[in-house]
Amino acid sequence: MCGIVGAVAQRDVAEILLEGLHRLEYRGYDSAGIAINHQQGIQRLRRLGKVQALGDALNETPLSGGTGIAHTRWATHGEPSEINAHPHVSSRIAVVHNGIIENHEKLRQKLKGLGFEFASQTDTEVIAHLVAHHLGQGDNLLGAVQQAVTELEGAYGTVIMDAQQPEKLIVARSGSPLVIGVGVGEHFIASDQQALLNVTRRFMFLEEGDVAEITRREVKVFAKDGTGVERSVIESNVTHDASDKGEYRHYMMKEIFEQPTAIINTLENRIVGNTILCEAFGAGAGDTFATIEHVQIIACGTSYHAGMVARYWLEAMAGVSCNVEIASEFRYRKSFVRPNSLIVTLSQSGETADTLAALRLAKEMGYTASLSICNVPGSSLVRESDLAFMTRAGAEIGVASTKAFTTQLAGLLLFCGAIGKSKGVLNEWAEGALVQSLQRLPDAVNQALALNDSIASLAEDFAEKHHALFLGRGDQYPIAMEGALKLKEISYIHAEAYAAGELKHGPLALIDADMPTIVVAPNNELLEKLKSNIEEVRARGGHLYVFADDEAELVASEGITLLRVPHVDEILAPIVYTIPLQLLSYYVAIIKGTDVDQPRNLAKSVTVE
Ligand code: M6R
Repeated sequence: MCGIVGAVAQRDVAEILLEGLHRLEYRGYDSAGIAINHQQGIQRLRRLGKVQALGDALNETPLSGGTGIAHTRWATHGEPSEINAHPHVSSRIAVVHNGIIENHEKLRQKLKGLGFEFASQTDTEVIAHLVAHHLGQGDNLLGAVQQAVTELEGAYGTVIMDAQQPEKLIVARSGSPLVIGVGVGEHFIASDQQALLNVTRRFMFLEEGDVAEITRREVKVFAKDGTGVERSVIESNVTHDASDKGEYRHYMMKEIFEQPTAIINTLENRIVGNTILCEAFGAGAGDTFATIEHVQIIACGTSYHAGMVARYWLEAMAGVSCNVEIASEFRYRKSFVRPNSLIVTLSQSGETADTLAALRLAKEMGYTASLSICNVPGSSLVRESDLAFMTRAGAEIGVASTKAFTTQLAGLLLFCGAIGKSKGVLNEWAEGALVQSLQRLPDAVNQALALNDSIASLAEDFAEKHHALFLGRGDQYPIAMEGALKLKEISYIHAEAYAAGELKHGPLALIDADMPTIVVAPNNELLEKLKSNIEEVRARGGHLYVFADDEAELVASEGITLLRVPHVDEILAPIVYTIPLQLLSYYVAIIKGTDVDQPRNLAKSVTVE
């Protein structure tokens, strides 16, 4: 999704801004632009397509100056084009913006009435004209921005530059994250700290409604009501080289292979002996968990699938009822809060607009407490939740979520154990058994990764297919959904998932020789039922690709291609069976030649509705 970088320094900042944009490329975008404040005024370059195209333009027409803003755009209002790319300008003002201004049409009419001419179809351009308008009324730049934001409805993270005041930037945040990078005699701004890790590791996170004035020497932050506020500076522990692909051709592959280490990191210091530490979820988490009778999980996409797996675990292991809902549905329907309910949000980025809005709504609705399971420290979800558990997957750059998912599942297993024991439902023996299973998890994932070569060959069968069906039962049903999501998102093959028991209620009609059916079949109490479903498909001329436990009595035969997955503890099977499905989608995408790390139309962090 859109990315912002800005800088106020004594040195030329164009290269810093360009590097920042490169670091944000993983978020997904369609065009890029930069504006530098120079003695001759604001100079701007914009290009449709990759940041590299902007870099080439900068090589041809270098821009010098110590204050600048830059942006990668993911189109919402107006097609991807150079005209619609940011920064947008209005006389002396240049603006970059993430988010959506919902009342842009009304403001556009008002500003046209005031004589402003619009060059683009974007909602963002209203911000530039609105600030220019207030500046014309005699406000200083800070005052003009403070005035302008009172008229904006929707979400924004925005940075404003004035040709006549080249020593400063004004930034404003509401619903779209912004972080200020603190340097020595220079300051930076970005929508994601990842953009600035090559220039600083010290960050100040702006809060909702904040407006800040940034100069080389100073950052002055004002809350929504205009009063000056202090925001603390935090030393980042995000590693700089996370954006390095190393020996891998794609970030996605690197991230798939990082999963054993990411899981080890996620479990580290969260277990002592045979005991799960409730404090891993925040101070006093154990006492809160003891009172909880119901868990409401909210998430989107892959994180939603993790929540769906957790529902099977929570109800079986911890004795609490659990609902799981997609955030964009939860936030727009009237729902009831059961007594003693915990709201749990799951998110890799911690900035997903729908999930964040759902959390805010839940807090108003009177949930007992909120917990966020998240991969990005300091993100909005983490800061706004009562309790937080950080998955330690490290930066995930590929748009297709892989290690964030499996570390969420590892965190959710710890959560089930923690809540179960706090409520006295999970006894010491069962807690110990869970801990021992978790300790075997990194090895089990490593063994699943060893299937890499077999899956690379298997992928060839899918290259010419247009559809695929994924089947699973019980806690493998969400894994089938995750497998289908991975395949469609990076190979563009239409894929859907069904709970295998649902086959005969409709989807069986789709089965023919051109519809490959992928089945996840660990050796559990549902295996016999699943075998019947496999037969239902085979009897109708379908070809099945069965990922089966090597202890299951399943054999390859006509219509069935079998891929043996090492036997693992039943509780770990959803995590382990995810790995071959990730690899399958990766290799199919490679054969199809799609953009694996930045699939078309998608963004890594979905910060708009
Ligand atoms: O950052 P989040 O976990 O909140 O993101 C939610 C979804 O946008 C995300 O999981 C998406 O579905 C992935 N790209 C799928 O691989």
